[in-house]
Amino acid sequence: MSILASKIDVAILGATGAVGQRFIQLLENHPWFRVGEVVASDRSAGKPYGEAARWVLAGSPPADVAAMTVLPLDAQLNSPIVLSALPSDVAKTLELELAARGHVVSSNTSSHRMAADVPLLLPDLNADHVALVEVQRRNRGWSSGALVTMTNCTSVALMVAFKPLLKYGIKQANVVSMQAVSGAGYPGVASLDILDNVVPYIGGEEDKLETEPRKVLGSFNGEAIDFLDTVISAACNRVPVLDSHLVCASVGFENVPSLEQIKADWLAYQGHELARDLPSMPDPVIAYSEVADRPQPRRDRDAGAGMTTTIGRLRECNLLDVKFVALSHNTIRGAAGGAILNAELLVSRGYVQGVHVGEAQVMG
Ligand SMILES: NC(=O)c1ccc[n+]([C@@H]2O[C@H](COP(=O)([O-])OP(=O)(O)OC[C@H]3O[C@@H](n4cnc5c(N)ncnc54)[C@H](OP(=O)(O)O)[C@@H]3O)[C@@H](O)[C@H]2O)c1
Repeated sequence: MSILASKIDVAILGATGAVGQRFIQLLENHPWFRVGEVVASDRSAGKPYGEAARWVLAGSPPADVAAMTVLPLDAQLNSPIVLSALPSDVAKTLELELAARGHVVSSNTSSHRMAADVPLLLPDLNADHVALVEVQRRNRGWSSGALVTMTNCTSVALMVAFKPLLKYGIKQANVVSMQAVSGAGYPGVASLDILDNVVPYIGGEEDKLETEPRKVLGSFNGEAIDFLDTVISAACNRVPVLDSHLVCASVGFENVPSLEQIKADWLAYQGHELARDLPSMPDPVIAYSEVADRPQPRRDRDAGAGMTTTIGRLRECNLLDVKFVALSHNTIRGAAGGAILNAELLVSRGYVQGVHVGEAQVMG
Protein backbone atom coordinates (compact mmCIF):
# COMPACT_ATOMS: atom_id res chain seq x y z
CA MET A 1 0.00 0.00 0.00
CA SER A 2 1.27 3.47 -0.92
CA ILE A 3 1.51 6.27 1.60
CA LEU A 4 0.96 9.93 0.71
CA ALA A 5 3.23 12.75 1.80
CA SER A 6 0.28 14.46 3.49
CA LYS A 7 -3.30 13.41 4.00
CA ILE A 8 -6.05 14.66 1.66
CA ASP A 9 -9.01 16.50 3.16
CA VAL A 10 -12.41 14.99 2.41
CA ALA A 11 -15.81 16.57 3.00
CA ILE A 12 -18.64 14.31 4.15
CA LEU A 13 -22.17 15.16 3.01
CA GLY A 14 -24.87 13.67 5.26
CA ALA A 15 -22.20 13.26 7.95
CA THR A 16 -24.69 12.83 10.80
CA GLY A 17 -26.58 9.88 9.26
CA ALA A 18 -26.03 6.11 9.39
CA VAL A 19 -23.60 6.09 6.45
CA GLY A 20 -22.04 9.45 7.37
CA GLN A 21 -21.10 8.06 10.78
CA ARG A 22 -19.47 5.03 9.16
CA PHE A 23 -17.44 7.39 6.97
CA ILE A 24 -16.16 9.14 10.08
CA GLN A 25 -15.39 5.89 11.86
CA LEU A 26 -13.55 4.39 8.84
CA LEU A 27 -11.55 7.56 8.19
CA GLU A 28 -10.24 7.86 11.74
CA ASN A 29 -7.00 6.06 10.91
CA HIS A 30 -7.09 6.20 7.13
CA PRO A 31 -3.61 6.36 5.55
CA TRP A 32 -4.55 8.80 2.74
CA PHE A 33 -7.64 10.77 3.84
CA ARG A 34 -8.75 12.84 6.81
CA VAL A 35 -12.11 14.43 7.58
CA GLY A 36 -11.86 18.09 6.52
CA GLU A 37 -15.51 19.19 6.54
CA VAL A 38 -18.85 17.77 7.72
CA VAL A 39 -22.13 18.77 6.09
CA ALA A 40 -25.74 17.96 7.03
CA SER A 41 -29.23 19.48 7.05
CA ASP A 42 -30.31 22.83 8.50
CA ARG A 43 -31.29 20.89 11.62
CA SER A 44 -27.59 20.20 12.29
CA ALA A 45 -25.78 23.09 10.58
CA GLY A 46 -23.96 25.46 12.93
CA LYS A 47 -23.74 22.92 15.76
CA PRO A 48 -20.63 20.99 16.83
CA TYR A 49 -20.75 17.56 15.15
CA GLY A 50 -20.70 15.79 18.52
CA GLU A 51 -23.90 17.59 19.47
CA ALA A 52 -25.68 17.37 16.11
CA ALA A 53 -25.10 13.66 15.49
CA ARG A 54 -26.84 10.98 17.51
CA TRP A 55 -23.91 8.53 17.34
CA VAL A 56 -25.30 5.04 16.67
CA LEU A 57 -22.00 3.16 16.33
CA ALA A 58 -19.88 1.74 19.16
CA GLY A 59 -18.00 4.28 21.28
CA SER A 60 -17.96 7.98 20.38
CA PRO A 61 -16.98 10.01 17.34
CA PRO A 62 -13.27 10.99 17.22
CA ALA A 63 -12.69 14.13 19.31
CA ASP A 64 -11.40 16.26 16.41
CA VAL A 65 -14.51 15.52 14.32
CA ALA A 66 -16.86 15.93 17.31
CA ALA A 67 -15.54 19.49 17.68
CA MET A 68 -16.08 20.42 13.99
CA THR A 69 -18.95 22.75 13.17
CA VAL A 70 -21.48 21.13 10.86
CA LEU A 71 -21.78 23.08 7.60
CA PRO A 72 -25.00 23.70 5.65
CA LEU A 73 -25.56 22.25 2.19
CA ASP A 74 -24.77 25.54 0.43
CA ALA A 75 -21.35 25.97 2.12
CA GLN A 76 -18.32 26.55 -0.10
CA LEU A 77 -16.25 23.41 0.45
CA ASN A 78 -12.44 23.39 0.41
CA SER A 79 -11.85 19.62 0.33
CA PRO A 80 -10.87 18.25 -3.09
CA ILE A 81 -12.74 14.98 -2.39
CA VAL A 82 -16.40 14.85 -1.36
CA LEU A 83 -17.99 11.68 0.04
CA SER A 84 -21.76 11.84 -0.23
CA ALA A 85 -24.34 10.11 1.98
CA LEU A 86 -27.31 12.39 1.37
CA PRO A 87 -30.88 11.36 0.60
CA SER A 88 -31.05 10.92 -3.17
CA ASP A 89 -33.43 13.84 -3.82
CA VAL A 90 -31.07 16.22 -2.01
CA ALA A 91 -27.97 14.76 -3.69
CA LYS A 92 -29.34 14.96 -7.20
CA THR A 93 -28.38 18.53 -8.10
CA LEU A 94 -25.79 19.19 -5.41
CA GLU A 95 -23.44 16.37 -6.44
CA LEU A 96 -23.41 17.64 -10.03
CA GLU A 97 -22.79 21.22 -8.88
CA LEU A 98 -19.86 20.12 -6.73
CA ALA A 99 -18.32 18.11 -9.57
CA ALA A 100 -18.79 21.11 -11.89
CA ARG A 101 -16.92 23.23 -9.33
CA GLY A 102 -13.94 20.85 -9.48
CA HIS A 103 -14.59 18.47 -6.58
CA VAL A 104 -14.19 14.75 -7.06
CA VAL A 105 -17.43 13.30 -5.66
CA SER A 106 -17.75 9.69 -4.50
CA SER A 107 -21.44 9.09 -3.82
CA ASN A 108 -23.58 6.49 -2.10
CA THR A 109 -26.86 7.79 -3.35
CA SER A 110 -28.87 6.31 -6.18
CA SER A 111 -29.55 9.57 -8.06
CA HIS A 112 -26.90 9.18 -10.78
CA ARG A 113 -25.97 5.49 -10.62
CA MET A 114 -27.46 4.57 -13.97
CA ALA A 115 -26.39 7.69 -15.91
CA ALA A 116 -24.45 6.53 -18.96
CA ASP A 117 -21.30 8.53 -18.16
CA VAL A 118 -21.22 7.92 -14.38
CA PRO A 119 -19.02 5.00 -13.28
CA LEU A 120 -20.87 2.60 -10.95
CA LEU A 121 -17.93 1.15 -9.12
CA LEU A 122 -16.97 -1.82 -7.01
CA PRO A 123 -13.22 -1.55 -7.63
CA ASP A 124 -12.53 -5.15 -6.64
CA LEU A 125 -14.79 -6.16 -9.56
CA ASN A 126 -14.67 -3.38 -12.17
CA ALA A 127 -11.86 -0.93 -11.37
CA ASP A 128 -11.28 -0.38 -15.11
CA HIS A 129 -14.73 1.33 -15.37
CA VAL A 130 -13.19 4.35 -13.59
CA ALA A 131 -11.80 5.49 -16.97
CA LEU A 132 -15.41 6.43 -17.86
CA VAL A 133 -14.56 9.61 -15.91
CA GLU A 134 -12.71 10.82 -19.00
CA VAL A 135 -15.89 10.47 -21.10
CA GLN A 136 -17.83 12.21 -18.31
CA ARG A 137 -15.41 15.15 -18.19
CA ARG A 138 -15.60 15.51 -21.98
CA ASN A 139 -19.43 15.29 -22.02
CA ARG A 140 -19.97 17.72 -19.18
CA GLY A 141 -17.08 20.12 -19.68
CA TRP A 142 -15.59 19.35 -16.26
CA SER A 143 -11.82 19.83 -16.17
CA SER A 144 -10.97 18.50 -12.72
CA GLY A 145 -14.29 17.48 -11.11
CA ALA A 146 -15.86 14.04 -11.38
CA LEU A 147 -18.75 11.97 -10.02
CA VAL A 148 -18.57 8.25 -9.32
CA THR A 149 -21.12 6.18 -7.41
CA MET A 150 -21.30 3.17 -5.12
CA THR A 151 -23.86 0.51 -5.93
CA ASN A 152 -26.95 -0.38 -3.96
CA CYS A 153 -25.85 -2.10 -0.74
CA THR A 154 -27.95 -5.25 -1.24
CA SER A 155 -26.56 -6.09 -4.65
CA VAL A 156 -22.92 -6.12 -3.45
CA ALA A 157 -22.90 -9.70 -2.15
CA LEU A 158 -24.61 -10.93 -5.32
CA MET A 159 -22.20 -9.13 -7.66
CA VAL A 160 -19.13 -10.29 -5.77
CA ALA A 161 -20.40 -13.89 -5.99
CA PHE A 162 -21.17 -13.52 -9.71
CA LYS A 163 -17.91 -11.92 -10.85
CA PRO A 164 -15.63 -15.00 -10.78
CA LEU A 165 -18.43 -17.02 -12.47
CA LEU A 166 -19.07 -14.74 -15.46
CA LYS A 167 -16.93 -17.02 -17.65
CA TYR A 168 -19.69 -19.67 -17.43
CA GLY A 169 -22.33 -17.25 -18.75
CA ILE A 170 -24.87 -16.22 -16.09
CA LYS A 171 -28.20 -16.50 -17.90
CA GLN A 172 -30.58 -15.81 -15.04
CA ALA A 173 -30.87 -15.52 -11.29
CA ASN A 174 -33.60 -15.44 -8.68
CA VAL A 175 -32.65 -13.54 -5.53
CA VAL A 176 -34.35 -13.11 -2.15
CA SER A 177 -32.81 -10.60 0.25
CA MET A 178 -32.97 -10.23 4.03
CA GLN A 179 -31.91 -6.68 4.81
CA ALA A 180 -30.79 -5.03 8.03
CA VAL A 181 -32.58 -2.06 9.58
CA SER A 182 -29.50 0.20 9.28
CA GLY A 183 -30.10 0.05 5.52
CA ALA A 184 -33.00 2.41 6.08
CA GLY A 185 -30.78 5.00 7.81
CA TYR A 186 -31.45 6.64 11.17
CA PRO A 187 -34.05 6.62 12.71
CA GLY A 188 -35.16 4.37 9.85
CA VAL A 189 -37.82 1.71 10.38
CA ALA A 190 -40.06 2.25 13.41
CA SER A 191 -39.52 -0.36 16.13
CA LEU A 192 -43.25 -1.20 16.11
CA ASP A 193 -42.92 -2.16 12.45
CA ILE A 194 -39.80 -4.33 12.64
CA LEU A 195 -39.54 -5.99 16.09
CA ASP A 196 -40.99 -9.52 15.98
CA ASN A 197 -41.61 -8.99 12.28
CA VAL A 198 -40.46 -9.18 8.64
CA VAL A 199 -41.52 -6.48 6.16
CA PRO A 200 -41.71 -7.97 2.64
CA TYR A 201 -41.32 -4.66 0.80
CA ILE A 202 -38.53 -2.06 0.51
CA GLY A 203 -39.39 0.77 -1.87
CA GLY A 204 -37.26 0.85 -5.03
CA GLU A 205 -34.93 -1.90 -3.85
CA GLU A 206 -35.96 -4.75 -6.14
CA ASP A 207 -35.51 -2.62 -9.25
CA LYS A 208 -31.96 -1.67 -8.13
CA LEU A 209 -31.04 -5.29 -7.43
CA GLU A 210 -32.33 -6.30 -10.86
CA THR A 211 -30.54 -3.57 -12.86
CA GLU A 212 -27.34 -2.36 -11.17
CA PRO A 213 -25.47 -5.71 -11.45
CA ARG A 214 -25.88 -5.55 -15.22
CA LYS A 215 -23.93 -2.26 -15.31
CA VAL A 216 -21.29 -3.16 -12.70
CA LEU A 217 -20.58 -6.55 -14.30
CA GLY A 218 -20.70 -5.16 -17.84
CA SER A 219 -17.63 -4.14 -19.81
CA PHE A 220 -16.20 -0.71 -20.58
CA ASN A 221 -15.69 -0.34 -24.32
CA GLY A 222 -13.68 2.89 -24.11
CA GLU A 223 -16.75 5.13 -24.48
CA ALA A 224 -19.57 3.46 -22.55
CA ILE A 225 -20.51 0.42 -20.47
CA ASP A 226 -21.90 -2.58 -22.35
CA PHE A 227 -24.35 -4.11 -19.87
CA LEU A 228 -24.11 -7.76 -18.89
CA ASP A 229 -26.75 -9.77 -20.72
CA THR A 230 -28.55 -11.48 -17.84
CA VAL A 231 -31.97 -11.51 -16.17
CA ILE A 232 -32.42 -11.12 -12.40
CA SER A 233 -35.64 -11.43 -10.43
CA ALA A 234 -35.49 -10.01 -6.88
CA ALA A 235 -37.65 -10.07 -3.76
CA CYS A 236 -36.47 -7.79 -0.93
CA ASN A 237 -37.35 -8.08 2.77
CA ARG A 238 -36.52 -5.98 5.84
CA VAL A 239 -35.62 -8.16 8.84
CA PRO A 240 -34.85 -7.32 12.49
CA VAL A 241 -31.06 -7.39 12.09
CA LEU A 242 -28.86 -4.38 12.90
CA ASP A 243 -26.25 -4.53 10.11
CA SER A 244 -25.59 -6.58 6.94
CA HIS A 245 -27.72 -7.82 4.09
CA LEU A 246 -28.03 -11.51 3.25
CA VAL A 247 -29.11 -12.80 -0.17
CA CYS A 248 -30.29 -16.28 -1.17
CA ALA A 249 -29.63 -16.73 -4.89
CA SER A 250 -30.47 -19.40 -7.48
CA VAL A 251 -28.48 -19.10 -10.69
CA GLY A 252 -28.78 -20.57 -14.19
CA PHE A 253 -25.67 -20.79 -16.42
CA GLU A 254 -25.00 -21.24 -20.14
CA ASN A 255 -22.21 -23.71 -19.33
CA VAL A 256 -22.94 -25.23 -15.96
CA PRO A 257 -19.82 -25.54 -13.75
CA SER A 258 -19.49 -28.14 -11.00
CA LEU A 259 -19.94 -27.08 -7.38
CA GLU A 260 -16.22 -27.72 -6.85
CA GLN A 261 -15.30 -25.44 -9.78
CA ILE A 262 -17.47 -22.65 -8.41
CA LYS A 263 -15.94 -22.88 -4.95
CA ALA A 264 -12.43 -22.94 -6.41
CA ASP A 265 -13.22 -19.85 -8.53
CA TRP A 266 -14.54 -17.97 -5.52
CA LEU A 267 -11.55 -18.82 -3.35
CA ALA A 268 -9.05 -17.95 -6.10
CA TYR A 269 -10.57 -14.54 -6.80
CA GLN A 270 -8.04 -11.81 -5.99
CA GLY A 271 -10.02 -8.80 -7.19
CA HIS A 272 -9.32 -6.46 -10.10
CA GLU A 273 -5.59 -5.80 -10.47
CA LEU A 274 -6.03 -2.00 -10.56
CA ALA A 275 -7.53 -2.13 -7.05
CA ARG A 276 -5.34 -4.69 -5.31
CA ASP A 277 -3.04 -2.23 -3.56
CA LEU A 278 -5.70 0.22 -2.40
CA PRO A 279 -5.88 0.70 1.39
CA SER A 280 -9.55 -0.35 1.68
CA MET A 281 -9.41 -3.27 -0.76
CA PRO A 282 -11.36 -6.22 0.72
CA ASP A 283 -8.96 -8.87 1.99
CA PRO A 284 -10.02 -11.46 1.05
CA VAL A 285 -12.66 -10.36 -1.46
CA ILE A 286 -14.57 -13.61 -0.84
CA ALA A 287 -14.62 -15.97 2.13
CA TYR A 288 -16.41 -19.31 1.75
CA SER A 289 -17.91 -20.93 4.84
CA GLU A 290 -18.26 -24.73 4.89
CA VAL A 291 -20.36 -24.52 8.08
CA ALA A 292 -23.87 -25.76 7.27
CA ASP A 293 -25.73 -22.78 8.76
CA ARG A 294 -23.45 -19.88 7.72
CA PRO A 295 -23.09 -17.09 6.67
CA GLN A 296 -25.05 -15.32 9.38
CA PRO A 297 -25.27 -11.54 9.94
CA ARG A 298 -24.04 -11.43 13.54
CA ARG A 299 -21.22 -13.92 12.98
CA ASP A 300 -19.95 -13.01 9.51
CA ARG A 301 -20.60 -9.32 8.80
CA ASP A 302 -17.29 -8.13 10.25
CA ALA A 303 -15.13 -10.46 8.10
CA GLY A 304 -12.24 -8.52 6.58
CA ALA A 305 -13.10 -5.44 8.68
CA GLY A 306 -16.58 -5.47 7.12
CA MET A 307 -15.28 -5.45 3.51
CA THR A 308 -15.26 -9.21 2.79
CA THR A 309 -18.27 -10.98 1.29
CA THR A 310 -18.99 -14.36 2.91
CA ILE A 311 -20.65 -17.06 0.81
CA GLY A 312 -21.94 -20.45 1.92
CA ARG A 313 -24.53 -23.17 1.38
CA LEU A 314 -23.56 -23.80 -2.27
CA ARG A 315 -25.70 -26.64 -3.59
CA GLU A 316 -27.67 -27.81 -6.62
CA CYS A 317 -30.99 -26.14 -7.41
CA ASN A 318 -34.13 -27.94 -8.63
CA LEU A 319 -35.29 -24.93 -10.69
CA LEU A 320 -32.08 -23.32 -12.00
CA ASP A 321 -28.57 -24.83 -11.73
CA VAL A 322 -27.09 -23.91 -8.35
CA LYS A 323 -28.05 -21.93 -5.27
CA PHE A 324 -26.11 -20.28 -2.44
CA VAL A 325 -26.27 -17.70 0.32
CA ALA A 326 -24.07 -14.56 0.37
CA LEU A 327 -23.68 -11.81 2.95
CA SER A 328 -22.01 -8.41 3.09
CA HIS A 329 -22.00 -5.51 5.53
CA ASN A 330 -24.37 -2.84 4.25
CA THR A 331 -22.97 0.34 5.82
CA ILE A 332 -19.29 -0.71 5.39
CA ARG A 333 -18.84 -2.76 2.17
CA GLY A 334 -22.19 -1.62 0.77
CA ALA A 335 -21.82 2.10 1.54
CA ALA A 336 -19.09 4.04 3.39
CA GLY A 337 -16.22 1.57 2.96
CA GLY A 338 -17.15 1.11 -0.69
CA ALA A 339 -17.29 4.85 -1.39
CA ILE A 340 -13.91 5.34 0.32
CA LEU A 341 -12.48 2.54 -1.85
CA ASN A 342 -13.87 4.35 -4.91
CA ALA A 343 -12.19 7.58 -3.81
CA GLU A 344 -8.91 5.71 -3.32
CA LEU A 345 -9.21 4.36 -6.85
CA LEU A 346 -9.74 7.88 -8.21
CA VAL A 347 -6.62 9.07 -6.38
CA SER A 348 -4.53 6.13 -7.50
CA ARG A 349 -5.55 6.60 -11.16
CA GLY A 350 -4.65 10.31 -11.06
CA TYR A 351 -8.19 11.74 -11.21
CA VAL A 352 -7.77 14.00 -8.18
CA GLN A 353 -5.95 17.13 -9.29
CA GLY A 354 -2.65 17.83 -7.58
CA VAL A 355 -2.54 14.48 -5.77
CA HIS A 356 -0.19 11.76 -6.96
CA VAL A 357 0.50 8.39 -5.45
CA GLY A 358 4.10 7.85 -6.53
CA GLU A 359 6.51 5.08 -5.81
CA ALA A 360 8.36 6.38 -2.76
CA GLN A 361 6.20 8.35 -0.39
CA VAL A 362 6.88 9.27 3.17
CA MET A 363 4.11 10.04 5.64
CA GLY A 364 4.21 13.69 6.80
N1 LIG B 1 -27.88 2.92 5.17
C1 LIG B 1 -27.32 2.14 4.25
O1 LIG B 1 -27.02 0.96 4.49
C2 LIG B 1 -27.06 2.68 2.87
C3 LIG B 1 -26.37 1.86 1.99
C4 LIG B 1 -26.11 2.32 0.69
C5 LIG B 1 -26.54 3.57 0.32
N2 LIG B 1 -27.22 4.34 1.19
C6 LIG B 1 -27.63 5.69 0.75
O2 LIG B 1 -26.83 6.64 1.45
C7 LIG B 1 -27.60 7.83 1.67
C8 LIG B 1 -27.62 8.13 3.16
O3 LIG B 1 -28.24 7.05 3.84
P1 LIG B 1 -28.29 6.94 5.42
O4 LIG B 1 -28.77 5.58 5.68
O5 LIG B 1 -27.03 7.42 6.02
O6 LIG B 1 -29.47 8.00 5.77
P2 LIG B 1 -29.76 8.79 7.15
O7 LIG B 1 -29.27 8.01 8.31
O8 LIG B 1 -31.19 9.17 7.09
O9 LIG B 1 -28.86 10.12 7.02
C9 LIG B 1 -29.19 11.16 6.12
C10 LIG B 1 -28.17 12.27 6.21
O10 LIG B 1 -28.50 13.28 5.26
C11 LIG B 1 -28.77 14.51 5.95
N3 LIG B 1 -29.94 15.17 5.33
C12 LIG B 1 -31.21 14.74 5.32
N4 LIG B 1 -32.01 15.64 4.68
C13 LIG B 1 -31.19 16.65 4.31
C14 LIG B 1 -31.40 17.88 3.65
N5 LIG B 1 -32.62 18.26 3.21
N6 LIG B 1 -30.35 18.69 3.44
C15 LIG B 1 -29.13 18.33 3.89
N7 LIG B 1 -28.86 17.18 4.53
C16 LIG B 1 -29.88 16.36 4.73
C17 LIG B 1 -29.05 14.16 7.39
O11 LIG B 1 -28.69 15.27 8.19
P3 LIG B 1 -29.45 15.62 9.57
O12 LIG B 1 -28.95 14.63 10.60
O13 LIG B 1 -29.00 17.01 9.83
O14 LIG B 1 -30.93 15.49 9.31
C18 LIG B 1 -28.10 12.97 7.57
O15 LIG B 1 -26.78 13.43 7.77
C19 LIG B 1 -28.99 7.57 1.07
O16 LIG B 1 -29.04 8.10 -0.24
C20 LIG B 1 -29.07 6.06 1.05
O17 LIG B 1 -29.93 5.57 0.04
C21 LIG B 1 -27.49 3.94 2.46
